[in-house]
Amino acid sequence: MELQTVISLRDLTKKIGKKTIVDHLSFDIHQGEVFGFLGPNGAGKTTTIRMMVGLISISEGQVLIHGKNIRTDFKNAIANVGCIVENPEMYKYLTGYQNLKHMARMAKVDAGNQIDEKRISEVVDLVGLGKRIHDKVSKYSLGMRQRLGVAQALLHRPSILILDEPTNGLDPAGIRELRDQLRYLAKEEKMAVIVSSHLLSEMELMCDRVAIIAQGKLVQVQTVGQMIDSEQEQQSMSIEVNDVGEALTIIQRTCDANASQSAEVKNTIQFAATKEQVATVIEALVKQEIRVYRVNAQRKTLEDRFLEITGGGEIA
Ligand SMILES: Nc1ncnc2c1ncn2[C@@H]1O[C@H](COP(=O)(O)OP(=O)(O)OP(=O)(O)O)[C@@H](O)[C@H]1O
Ligand SMILES: [Mg+2]
Repeated sequence: MELQTVISLRDLTKKIGKKTIVDHLSFDIHQGEVFGFLGPNGAGKTTTIRMMVGLISISEGQVLIHGKNIRTDFKNAIANVGCIVENPEMYKYLTGYQNLKHMARMAKVDAGNQIDEKRISEVVDLVGLGKRIHDKVSKYSLGMRQRLGVAQALLHRPSILILDEPTNGLDPAGIRELRDQLRYLAKEEKMAVIVSSHLLSEMELMCDRVAIIAQGKLVQVQTVGQMIDSEQEQQSMSIEVNDVGEALTIIQRTCDANASQSAEVKNTIQFAATKEQVATVIEALVKQEIRVYRVNAQRKTLEDRFLEITGGGEIA
């Protein structure tokens, strides 16, 4: 499938005083994908997004949106973008619907892209606010406000949606709903959805591809599949058995000479293994009639991953 590029960053750089906050970022984002900016606090994610949507000036490099330069052709470039960078503006004493109507009236100045009642109903359907759209915003949960924010951002039919840390403050159910919704917009509406987060686990579930950013620099752009695969190469495992002594010998022989008995958890051995080695270990244990009660893979934290990718560099 031909992937249409909707945003290109070319050596995008932000300098404030002597400090380089965003350092020559270059990558393309495609139609129909959820693309994540992943990096620890202070990595430069928000600064990058602000430059992409023209909220702050660009020191060097460029941002092209559908080939239009955000710096020199702002109006035509930004027409393609819906974004929530800071808290979206909403009137709490108005209903969700009234807020959308107000936004639509404000946006009407942009001739040729009229926002009518039909479009308002469309965005309400898109974000699944249903009947609650006629409740006052003051009665909304954080997740519902987030949906209303997305609805506002979608009003002018953008092909690109940009959300800075969209899951901040949401509970697990809210995060899941938002994730499903963003995936829907990418897959069914063919939008490019750009999100940022400092949580690897969240990005894995939400995104198709992720740009890992550390200290303003691009560490790498990966598909989530690649991220998960590379984790599988180096999984840290723990296994609970009835006979630790015998099992330890088998595991040390089969895959990990450094396997050791856990000091904290009874009858548990810790070892490192690839996916295939885990299968081999379990087979060998069962053959020796050792009872296997529990096998756990310890997921790597973002820190671990950063240390791996950056070769042990400092974080943040
Ligand atoms: N106006 C400014 N003046 C000076 N330094 C700034 C300014 N804005 C941002 N910075 C610095 O730039 C760096 C990147 O900030 P930014 O907010 O882009 O990071 P972030 O990746 O969004 O972090 P977080 O996960 O905390 O939101 C930080 O070290 C921050 O202190
Ligand atoms: Mg930020």
